[in-house]
Amino acid sequence: MKVLVTGGTGFTGSHTAAALMAAGHDVRLMVRDPAKVRRVFDPLGLVPTDVVTADMVDHAAVEDALAGCDGVIHTAALVDLRRASASLVENTNTRGAEVVIGAAADRGVTRIVHVSSLTVFFRPGGPPMTTTMPIVDGSTAYARSKARAERYVRRLQDSGAGIRISYPAGIVGPHDPGPSAVNAGLASFLHDTFLITTGGLQIVDVRDLARLHVTLLELPPGPDRYVAASEMLTWPQIYELCCRLTGTRPRKVTVPGFLLRAAGTVGDIAKRLHDFDFPLTRDAMEVGTRWPGADTERTTRELGVRFRDPADTLRDTLRWMYSAGHLSAAEVGKLAAEAVPS
Ligand SMILES: NC(=O)c1ccc[n+]([C@@H]2O[C@H](COP(=O)([O-])OP(=O)(O)OC[C@H]3O[C@@H](n4cnc5c(N)ncnc54)[C@H](OP(=O)(O)O)[C@@H]3O)[C@@H](O)[C@H]2O)c1
Repeated sequence: MKVLVTGGTGFTGSHTAAALMAAGHDVRLMVRDPAKVRRVFDPLGLVPTDVVTADMVDHAAVEDALAGCDGVIHTAALVDLRRASASLVENTNTRGAEVVIGAAADRGVTRIVHVSSLTVFFRPGGPPMTTTMPIVDGSTAYARSKARAERYVRRLQDSGAGIRISYPAGIVGPHDPGPSAVNAGLASFLHDTFLITTGGLQIVDVRDLARLHVTLLELPPGPDRYVAASEMLTWPQIYELCCRLTGTRPRKVTVPGFLLRAAGTVGDIAKRLHDFDFPLTRDAMEVGTRWPGADTERTTRELGVRFRDPADTLRDTLRWMYSAGHLSAAEVGKLAAEAVPS
């Protein structure tokens, strides 16, 4: 199948493209910066040949990118937490989904996968999340943009378009061009100080997410929604896991969840005075301390897609972070001697 992958030089997009190629599909990457393609795909041992440059809000460019494609996987999104970028983020991600998914549906493309986020179901301390829950608007522009894009895609699903939606938890794994938010957070915990708090973290390995996207694309056309996540771990469990994997004991500090949430509120106010692209927001602190978890039983039962043990993801990610220069030999301890995962 000829498949367009938006966000082709992003973390999820590049791994999804690699999984599609491994499954024998013909991939077209849609990127903003073609010069980035080699840097992202060389470490994966791949040389994409069909690359189109297009902004996802540029309807004509997206139409050109879709020409001749039987399927599309929309991974592109703008992630920027600065206040000054709020309206750009909200408009770009919402409009981007409308343009890419809308144009694909209008052209009669029947294999469409939209990458959403579990945060569209997130209620702090609420019940475990499922894909049947109502959509929630978060308090950040990014969260709102994902919710608004989601509502648009749901309307298309309701009108008969065979779009499938994936809902990733925090995406983690090796070979991250960013590094993106959760990988960067883990690196800073090992580099500076590990923050232990209430609640926990639910991750999904980028390689499992990529496999889910290939499966969703290959199914007979039809609308559906699937969670992508590994088992949830508490912050002390994540700390102990990192200690076991590395053989080190990183510096740690324990802060109760309510204090972090208060700090997030202060961060929101501080950003009005001095803007910064760091996730010290009330929204991020709610996610970090009151994440209720999401169940992937249906994804595994219906699709046969399994999500690996978070220990395996963390081992590969930390090894890669060392090889890519994001962490030092002392910070990854005994993992420094192990080979970089493919
Ligand atoms: N990371 C997470 O933990 C997480 C969790 C849940 C859901 N998600 C969702 O998963 C998807 C992939 O996230 P990711 O972590 O892989 O992000 P990422 O690495 O930042 O990739 C995003 C991609 O979108 C591209 N992009 C941004 N603005 C664009 C525009 N205006 N037109 C065209 N392309 C544009 C970027 O291009 P460049 O390569 O040029 O920067 C990048 O390739 C997103 O939809 C995100 O909302 C992420």
